[in-house]
Amino acid sequence: MYAALCSIGAYVPSKILTNADLEVMVDTTDEWIFKRTGIKERHIAASDETTSDMGMKAAEIAMQRSGLEKSQIDLIICATISPDYFCMPSTATIIATKLGLEKVTAFDISAACTGFVYALSIAKAFIESGMKKNVLIIGAEKLSAITDYTDRGTCILFGDGAGAAIISASDDKTKGIIDIHTGSDGSFADLLMTPNGGSGSAHDELDREAASCFMKMKGNETFKVAVRTLTNDVIEILKENNLPSSDIKHFVPHQANYRIIKAVGDALNLNDEQVVLTVEKYGNTSGASIPMAINDIYESGRLQEGDLMLLDAFGGGLTWGSAIVPFAGKSRII
Ligand code: ACO
Repeated sequence: MYAALCSIGAYVPSKILTNADLEVMVDTTDEWIFKRTGIKERHIAASDETTSDMGMKAAEIAMQRSGLEKSQIDLIICATISPDYFCMPSTATIIATKLGLEKVTAFDISAACTGFVYALSIAKAFIESGMKKNVLIIGAEKLSAITDYTDRGTCILFGDGAGAAIISASDDKTKGIIDIHTGSDGSFADLLMTPNGGSGSAHDELDREAASCFMKMKGNETFKVAVRTLTNDVIEILKENNLPSSDIKHFVPHQANYRIIKAVGDALNLNDEQVVLTVEKYGNTSGASIPMAINDIYESGRLQEGDLMLLDAFGGGLTWGSAIVPFAGKSRII
């Protein structure tokens, strides 16, 4: 059996936070943000809208586009660093219930911005081992809930949203995910973390900051490691699979910063048409960014059955991952 990406969906909350809005909140400018990141605006969830609400809406679209019955979904994986609840229950189990899926296997994974690629690799393993047939993977984030809107180094970057994909078993090798790389290096943990609130934080400091889960980032150091790691990773996965970069129809990188995407795209000699960019309108939505970007090219008609995608992500952990994925569409064989 091969694991095929059959459908995609996404949800974006309606409220928009522009660079001009941020100019009033912190000491920054639209010009600085756009020049350094490529971001113009990001979407922010309503105060009573949760990560599972957004994940559920993206999942409903992906399920409807797949043509599958709900009862055919036998595993749900949600990649998130902004779950509905800190420890439990998992966001995946809440999404399952909101979707009306009973007794399905459901769990979250934590790999920050690489979460969707990690989830894809887990789905692939479950399907290829014969344990599951139709896996719903979701990347959903309410990053606004863990963003410190007094910290100009991070609050300009992040947005909310969700993306979902159905990965199904196929006996057609040409439909199957070709390869996935995933990696991590915890020695860089302090570059990007939520230092408070977990078992590693000081419990005698019960002030607001200690109780919060705000993200802290050493942006410039993270930037350099990101460019180096991502470039090496995509070059390696293409080489191992004997694929020239010209065979890639859509390069779908994690949407963190236009300058990182450009550096990696240039290293692969990709042209502008191959590179998928959504960072300008969504900002960095961590685990949701890759499926949201795939959904964008699907809805605009750019993504066609058989198109080869190269996914590439990097995030807190540090974690990274890349994947070579044909878009199978509904042509899967179950
Ligand atoms: N507005 C204006 N000035 C700012 C802002 C801002 N919002 N933020 C920082 N500055 C200032 C700094 O204080 C600094 O000033 P100084 O020179 O007087 O000291 C100057 O701008 C340059 O700061 P740098 O941090 O060096 O700026 P850089 O060009 O690196 O851009 C950024 C910062 C956008 C954060 C970039 O480093 C970045 O994108 N890093 C990678 C982020 C990433 O990929 N993270 C991983 C994924 S996220 C996840 O996993 C959840």
